[in-house]
Amino acid sequence: MEIVVATRNADKIREIRAILPGGFKLLSLDDIGFDLDLEAAEDGESFEENVIKKAEFVRSFLAYDCLVLADDSGLVIDALGGLPGVDSANFMGRDTPYKVRHEWILAQIGALGRSARFVCVMALATPAGTRTFHATMEGKIAEKPAGDGGFGYDPIFYLPEFGKTAAQLSMEQKNKISHRGKALLKAVDYLHENFGI
Ligand code: IMP
Repeated sequence: MEIVVATRNADKIREIRAILPGGFKLLSLDDIGFDLDLEAAEDGESFEENVIKKAEFVRSFLAYDCLVLADDSGLVIDALGGLPGVDSANFMGRDTPYKVRHEWILAQIGALGRSARFVCVMALATPAGTRTFHATMEGKIAEKPAGDGGFGYDPIFYLPEFGKTAAQLSMEQKNKISHRGKALLKAVDYLHENFGI
């Protein structure tokens, strides 16, 4: 069965393609001719609420039985009361360069605690209903940005066990430990068990 990936974020699609084992046929929103505003569905107050809305919005558009996979994710910084959280993509403005967002966050953090985590909730909308899969990647806000891999907030997300930021890991290393990698593998187990794919 084909799986439609309900995101327009090219970085997420790249990681999802790299994480999924062979044998899965992925379709993009362009492949299925979905030209509606997916962001309009992201008005919920939690990752869980948003991801279910995105997956079901895309599935309701499809006239045939198909699986839809959606990802809602973000960076949760404890010292900032959980910001940028569910609003990570739009934080300080959707078009604000991440470099500017990094600088602002580092200036706010100052002497405050640095604990933070990336959160990912994946949803699979199937003919039998919608299931969600949660995972996190724990780390710290770095003293300064480093690395040019990954995307988004990766250069300021420090992983003490590696002594590196997420942007300094190879994609393979990041996908093994990341919120997205772990949530997606839970979804893959579910697909194996319930859909035989
Ligand atoms: P969403 O499209 O509403 O789920 O927003 C996700 C946003 O969270 C992204 O646009 C990034 O700003 C941030 N984010 C999620 N996952 C990662 C990651 O793995 N690295 C860096 N930033 C991420």
